[in-house]
Amino acid sequence: MMSMHGGGGARMGMRSMTRNRDILERRVAPGTLKRILEFARQYRRQLSVFLAAVVLDAVVTSVAPLLLRAIIDQGIAQRREGLVIGLALATAGLAVADAGLSLVERRISSRIGEGLIFDLRSRVFRHIQQMPVAFFSRTQTGALISRLNNDVIGAQQAFTDLFSNVVGNVVLLAITLGVMLTLSWQITLVALFLLPVFLLPARRVGRRLGGMFQQGMELNAEMNMVMTERFNVAGATVVKLYGRPEEEAGHFDNRASRVRDIGVRQAVYQRFFFIALGLVASLATAFAYGFGGVEVLHGALPVGTVIAITAYLTRIYGPLTQVSNLHIDYMSAIVSFERLFEVLDLEPMIKEPAEARAVPEGPLKVSFSHVNFDYPGAEEVSLASLEAVATLERTGRVRVLHDVSFEVAPGTMTALVGPSGAGKSTISSLVTRLYDVADGAVEMNGVDVREMRLADLNGVVGVVTQDSHLFHDTLGANVLYARPEATEAEVWAALDAAQIGDLVRTLPLGLETVVGERGYRLSGGEKQRVALARLMLKSPRVVVLDEATAHLDNESELLVQRALEESLRDRTSLVIAHRLSTIRRADQILVVEQGRIVERGTHDELLDLGGLYRDLYLTQFAGDEPSEAI
Ligand SMILES: Nc1ncnc2c1ncn2[C@@H]1O[C@H](COP(=O)(O)OP(=O)(O)OP(=O)(O)O)[C@@H](O)[C@H]1O
Ligand SMILES: [Mg+2]
Repeated sequence: MMSMHGGGGARMGMRSMTRNRDILERRVAPGTLKRILEFARQYRRQLSVFLAAVVLDAVVTSVAPLLLRAIIDQGIAQRREGLVIGLALATAGLAVADAGLSLVERRISSRIGEGLIFDLRSRVFRHIQQMPVAFFSRTQTGALISRLNNDVIGAQQAFTDLFSNVVGNVVLLAITLGVMLTLSWQITLVALFLLPVFLLPARRVGRRLGGMFQQGMELNAEMNMVMTERFNVAGATVVKLYGRPEEEAGHFDNRASRVRDIGVRQAVYQRFFFIALGLVASLATAFAYGFGGVEVLHGALPVGTVIAITAYLTRIYGPLTQVSNLHIDYMSAIVSFERLFEVLDLEPMIKEPAEARAVPEGPLKVSFSHVNFDYPGAEEVSLASLEAVATLERTGRVRVLHDVSFEVAPGTMTALVGPSGAGKSTISSLVTRLYDVADGAVEMNGVDVREMRLADLNGVVGVVTQDSHLFHDTLGANVLYARPEATEAEVWAALDAAQIGDLVRTLPLGLETVVGERGYRLSGGEKQRVALARLMLKSPRVVVLDEATAHLDNESELLVQRALEESLRDRTSLVIAHRLSTIRRADQILVVEQGRIVERGTHDELLDLGGLYRDLYLTQFAGDEPSEAI
């Protein structure tokens, strides 16, 4: 049993030592164990093969000291050369068998372990994708990623540890102790009397180490947060413009030094533990030799028996310690699984309809009727543990939209204007079901969006937001994301329609240019045109657009304008407009203020009305106006 109960056993023992003390006091939710077993069920066959291999290996390893005894007592003592050689060869054979079996065990256990990791990861990933946008805006990305990494691995390790610990060590201990007791129960008891003296402090140290381990993880996470915040482009820029580099470095050193200190303490404790384990095993061996040697002198025991017992002794202290920490393994498995189940149990707020209705054919009319809306509170969409706070605030809901009703006729364009924070983006997010309305309904040709399948809805509505995200991938791949089966000619057509084709042609790598976070840097206007190209490739029947507010220079303004015209042609569109040129082209303008539609009409009608629109026009848009008269 080389890897599992020799050196590998020591490593595993260490890990079970390094669990947190708090977890032992945790209450286990009912049903957790059943769910864990459900995950394990599909590995039933592999688990039973593993079990068989472990038992066989335990038997093989326990036979070796018996052969040793026979070599000494029957072979050497009675001067039978042939027997000595034969038994030595048999011992060698056993060693080879042990090596082979260990390899098989490792292979099976890693298959089970990695398989489990895969299952858990893929389930959690799928589930997280279904979460509403609100979930992502609240959750710390780092915390979420650590669920998919650390907790998944933690759950798997604890699970496989537990399994090999229980099965492997218990079988090994049972066989070994049984053989030892039959060889000489007196020596066995003498040798084992040290055990309790060792185990009690060992458990203490184990718990201390567990606490340190947890603390170390937290300190590491804090240090990482400092780095991720400062090392992304936006953060690094702020530090350059406003920061005091010395202070930043000091701040970082502070975190890093705490990681260093806890690392030193951990190392000392771990070493201490292993030194103690080695010492106790050596002491026990000394006792066994002393007591057994005297017995041999008195003729009560053959020499071989004493040697066999000491050989067994050296290999049971490790497994015994591990078994004594079984409950820690068990609890950490439960805790890790619970942290994963907690995520899996979060209910997606936006649900697929039980019975879906098809999206009507032809041009679509979008209508809002008496829509009220409030953003969900933290406790509805998130987990305290993912936001790195103790409890989620219970702010209650604040009404953001009040009785919003309007219609966008098929193939026409409606512009939303209004002061910042009025609710324009909120209105647009209801069309694609980023959120669901509280009262009232959003419909397309009379079919409520909540009755459509999400994939169908996404198929007919295209959205371009103010800060369109491009993945860190090639330009071509980013555009193709809308419709992966599109041909290259179609991609170029979309790029040309979005007025960005010429620019892409001048790039040395063309469509293969890597863009996004760490790639080629597109300007704000260029980025929005790429996003429009992506939209046009998808060719949706309804377009929702949050126009970029950033001031574009005249040329790109004109290009974006043309791109917009192309993308909106013959489509039903809802545009949050910041540029007069867009607003003037709208068939209908809705003026939003504090979550209500306060004015509606065309540009000229609204100017004549002399209300909020006129104010907005005079303060914000009039500067855009070319010299022509109104
Ligand atoms: N995720 C959110 N959770 C809670 N409240 C929100 C959320 N997003 C927006 N709000 C609030 O809803 C109100 C309307 O916001 P919205 O983003 O719709 O304004 P807007 O008209 O698009 O403003 P702007 O022109 O600045 O983009 C604001 O008071 C805002 O604070
Ligand atoms: Mg907005």
